[in-house]
Formats: sequence, structure tokens, C-alpha cells
Amino acid sequence: MRNCAILLSGGGSNMVKLVESMGEAGHPARPVLVMSNDPEAGGLAKAQAMGVATDAVDHRPFGKDRPAFESELTARLEAADADLICLAGFMRVLTEGFVRRWEGRMLNIHPSLLPKYRGLHTHARALEAGDAEAGCTVHEVTPELDDGPILGQARVPILPGDTPDALAARVLIREHALYPACLRRFAAGERQPLYLA
Ligand code: GRF
Repeated sequence: MRNCAILLSGGGSNMVKLVESMGEAGHPARPVLVMSNDPEAGGLAKAQAMGVATDAVDHRPFGKDRPAFESELTARLEAADADLICLAGFMRVLTEGFVRRWEGRMLNIHPSLLPKYRGLHTHARALEAGDAEAGCTVHEVTPELDDGPILGQARVPILPGDTPDALAARVLIREHALYPACLRRFAAGERQPLYLA
């Protein structure tokens, strides 16, 4: 049984789906902690309502000292006995030191069809480029931003008149299907990427 910690910065809709999925019979992982860099993150209240332990390490007092912030994160993760991390809308860039410590045990969901559109504003960039489709990717986290081995992808058609927000809302629905499926496979030791139709 893997002990899964989920890191978030916002509303936590992906976290909710991940926690729900780990409640399914025979799931090889269980949620041990939901933690945010923002003590006010909406996802923390949702996790508490679901009975999952929560914590917050406000990154602001640490200023530019990312390693100090991350060693605090690590202390909380170790206290929770976490051995698997899901980044779910966690908006802080992680240093190589932190990533190396968790390499092979940390996943992220990114709202584009990687390797296209690493970084931010992915939907606006896809629309700007006139792409026919968008989507989301679950990948292992490596020191290079949004670049690790792909564990799964889901595609979404871009529709005439789409705005970034409308497209984001459609992609988010697919994220909620993709991330739990990828987590279950990863926790079971499967590494074949999953491409949702
Ligand atoms: C999602 O769009 C995800 O792709 C990105 O941040 C957002 C998280 O949303 N990494 P939520 O906090 O899970 O609702």
C-alpha cells in the first residue's frame, strides 16, 4: 500500500477526484496528507471534509529561500510517512534537490498535450496557435519543468469560439478522469502510458 500525499495551491478539484478514487476497492494507494503552500487554499477545506489530514507551509515567509521552504515540506511529508506525491495544481517551482529526493515517486498533471506548451497559459497558447485540439498530461516529475516520462494523456477538441476559460473547463473534466487512472496504475507499478480516447 502506497502512502500518497497531494500538494495543491488552489481549489483542489483534482485532489478531490484522487482522494475519491483511492477509496475504491483494491486501490494500491491511500491518501495520507493534503498540503498547500497557501494556508487559505480552498482544497484544504475540501480535504478536511473528506477526512484527510491537511497541512500548510506558507511559502511567503521563506522569500527566495526555496530549499528552506522545501525542507519544511519534506519534514511534513516524512511525518505523514508519505512515499508517493501527486502535484495537483501546485503552483510553486520545485528545486532539483527536492525533485531528486522524490524522483520516481512524484507525479504531476499539466493542462496541455506535452511536450507542447510547457509552463503557464497553456490553453491561451493552444488557441493562439490555432490548434485543433488541447488536453492534459500526467507525467513523472523530473528536474526539468513539465518534462518527465509521460504516464497518460487525454485529448479535447478545440471548438470554434473557444476561450481559454471554456477550454480549461473542458480539459479539467478530462483531468478528473485521467489523473486517478494514472495514479492507480503508477501505484500498482505499471508504467505503460494511458491514452484516454
Ligand atoms: C488544473 O488545471 C491542472 O491542470 C493545473 O492546475 C489546475 C488544478 O486545478 N495543474 P484544481 O486545483 O485541481 O481544481
